[in-house]
Amino acid sequence: MTSELSGRAAHRAEITARAEAEMASMGVDAAFIDLLVETFYGHIRNHPELGPVFEGRLAGRWPDHMVKMKAFWGSVAFKTGAYGGKPVQAHQGVDGMAEHLFLQWLQLFSDTLTEIGASDAAHRWFLASAERIAKSLVLSLFYNPAFDDPRMRSPS
Ligand code: HEM
Repeated sequence: MTSELSGRAAHRAEITARAEAEMASMGVDAAFIDLLVETFYGHIRNHPELGPVFEGRLAGRWPDHMVKMKAFWGSVAFKTGAYGGKPVQAHQGVDGMAEHLFLQWLQLFSDTLTEIGASDAAHRWFLASAERIAKSLVLSLFYNPAFDDPRMRSPS
């Protein structure tokens, strides 16, 4: 049992070490994540459409959100498991949330990566990760399986 546990811990350490090396090769470290998150949410707060949607939910709670988002991206990049939140639930019931906002979110994220001087590899990696997560959030928030029901199809 003990050796099974230490085997698992060693396996996790190996995964984290590999992720850290992959990130380092793209110029990504903890300071990069901090800068990405700080710069991105600075722009989000000033964005004419996204700003009010975030503010409506996060007024007075921004410092906590920033800590959470740094843990989130750190966890995605370095595979540390440091973020233990529930992203789908967090996005439910947000006033003004709409599908088209996700494209604006992704554009702003991409512009931020350019602005902070991310390497091409880092830019591609972070944007691809964000797109994947955005897609799964959009599906969970807006997709209605009833639309796949054959009875919903118009008669041909
Ligand atoms: C239109 C797009 C989006 C909007 C308006 C939005 C808005 C928000 C808001 C208001 C919160 C705070 C929830 C709360 O604490 O009550 C939040 C949390 C969060 N968002 Fe988004 N979000 C968007 C897209 C994304 C995307 C694309 C990602 C990932 C790539 C993401 C990742 C997260 C995470 C990890 C949290 C923290 C969840 C937790 O509490 O553990 N969001 N978002």
